[in-house]
Amino acid sequence: MSSRRDFIKKSAIIGTGLAMSPSLSFGGSDPYKGKKVKVALIGVGLRGTNHLNNVLLRDDVLVTAICDIDPRRIKIALDLMDKAGEKKPKVFGKGEFDYRNLLEMKEIDAVIISTPWLWHTKMAKDSMLAGKYTGLEVSAANTMEECWDLVNTHEQTGSHLMILENVNYRRDVLAVLNMVKQNVFGELVHFRCGYQHDLRFVKLNDGKSAYGKGVEFGEKGISESAWRTQHSLLRNADVYPTHGVGPMATMCDVNRGNRFMSLTSHASKGIGLHNYIVKHGGKEHPNAKLKFKQGDVITSTIETANGETIIVTHDCNLPRPYSLGFRVQGANGLWEKDGDRIYIEGKSKSHRWDASKEWLEKYDHPLWKKYGEHAQGAGHGGMDFFVINAFIESAKRNIAPPLDAYDAAAWSAITPLSEASIENNGEPQDFPDFTRGMWVKRKPYHWIKDTY
Ligand SMILES: NC(=O)c1ccc[n+]([C@@H]2O[C@H](COP(=O)([O-])OP(=O)(O)OC[C@H]3O[C@@H](n4cnc5c(N)ncnc54)[C@H](O)[C@@H]3O)[C@@H](O)[C@H]2O)c1
Repeated sequence: MSSRRDFIKKSAIIGTGLAMSPSLSFGGSDPYKGKKVKVALIGVGLRGTNHLNNVLLRDDVLVTAICDIDPRRIKIALDLMDKAGEKKPKVFGKGEFDYRNLLEMKEIDAVIISTPWLWHTKMAKDSMLAGKYTGLEVSAANTMEECWDLVNTHEQTGSHLMILENVNYRRDVLAVLNMVKQNVFGELVHFRCGYQHDLRFVKLNDGKSAYGKGVEFGEKGISESAWRTQHSLLRNADVYPTHGVGPMATMCDVNRGNRFMSLTSHASKGIGLHNYIVKHGGKEHPNAKLKFKQGDVITSTIETANGETIIVTHDCNLPRPYSLGFRVQGANGLWEKDGDRIYIEGKSKSHRWDASKEWLEKYDHPLWKKYGEHAQGAGHGGMDFFVINAFIESAKRNIAPPLDAYDAAAWSAITPLSEASIENNGEPQDFPDFTRGMWVKRKPYHWIKDTY
C-alpha cells in the first residue's frame, strides 16, 4: 500500500493526469509484481523528458541514471525527479560519448534512448553490447548498414531491442488492429499511412525555445531544429516512416508470416522550407539561399510477401493539419482515418460510409478499455503510456518486446530504400530479409490482451 500512496503522491506532484500504476493492477498472481526495473535515460530533451515523466509515475521503475550533453536539459530532468521525491540519479553528459560510462553501471536493467537520429544505432548497439534491455526512439536507423547493425547486435548479444513506436498504441489504431484480428475487414489487401505533419516551426526556430518563431537551425537552432533540419537539407528520402508504417506492419504481420518485399518512391519538388524562411526571415536571410534536397511530399509504395500494398507518405514542409492518413482495406471493407469512416459490406448500408465512432467503440482494445482513463494525461493522447508500459513490462520479464529489432530494421529501412529509389527515377528497391528466413515461421505477437 505504501507504493500506492507514493504513487498517488507522485501523481499529484507531477499532475499529468495519470492516476494509477499499471503494476498495481495486473492481478495478484503476477510473479513480477513488486519487481522494480532500473532504468537509465540517454537524451532528456523534449521526448526523453516525456518518457521520464511517464516512468516516474510507475512504482515498478527506479531511474538510476540520466545522460544529456545539454546541462539545461539535465537540470529540468533533475528538478522533475526531485519534485517526484526520487533519489538523485547518476548524471552523465561530459562529452558526446559519456553515455558509454553510463552503460557500464551495473545498476541499470533497461535504457531509453531519445537522442537525435544519427545517435540512435550507435547508442542502441552499445546498450545491447552492455547487456541492457534497450528502448529506442523512432526512427531507429538511418542507413541499411545501421538497420543490419541493430539486428546483428541483437542476435549476437541476446539483448532485446524495442522500437518505441507509440502510434502502434493509439486508441483507434488498436481498435482497428482488434477488428483486423477478428477478421472484420476480411483478407487484407491495401494500406495507406504516413507522417503528414507541418513541422516548419519545429525545423526552424529562434534558437531560444523549441517552438519559438525564427528561421534558424543547426548550431543556431534549438531542440529538433538543431539536428532534424539537416536531414531535410541533405537527403531526399522519407526520413520518418515508422509512425505510419509501424501500425500497418503490425496489422499485416510483417516479420511474422509476412514481410516487406520491395518499394518504389517518388518525391515532389521541395519549396516549403524555403518559402517559410523567406516569409519569416526575409529573402536576404542566409538560410533563404539554401537548397533543401528533400521533396515536400514523398510517396513510397511497398509490396509485401502476402500481396498487400502499403502507400507511405512523408509530408512535413507544407502548411497542413496533422494526419497520419491511415487506411486499412480488406476483402470485406475498409477504415479511413481521414473522414473517420468505415464501410463493411453486408453490415454498412450499401455504398454508404458509417461514422467510424461506433465501430471503434465496439472493438475498443482491451488495454484501452482497462487503462484508457488513466493513460489520457501521459502524452500524445495516452499512447505514450502504453508504449512505455509494454517496454517496462517486457524488460521486467526480459522477454522479446512486441516491436522488436527486426521491426526496427524493416521499418527504418524505408529511409535508405526510398532515397535510392528517388535517386533512380522510382526504380524498385528490394528489402533485405532481416529475419533471414525466420519470418515464415515466426508467430504474430499476441496483441489482443489487457496486460501489455
Ligand atoms: N515517438 C514520438 O512521438 C516522438 C516525438 C518526438 C520526438 N521523437 C524522437 O525522439 C528523439 C528525440 O527527439 P526530441 O524531440 O526529444 O529532440 P531534442 O533535440 O529535444 O532532444 C534530444 C536530446 O538529445 C541530447 N543529445 C544529443 N546528443 C547526445 C549525446 N551524444 N549524448 C547524450 N545526449 C545527447 C540533446 O542534448 C537533446 O537534449 C528523436 O529520435 C525523435 O524522432 C519521437
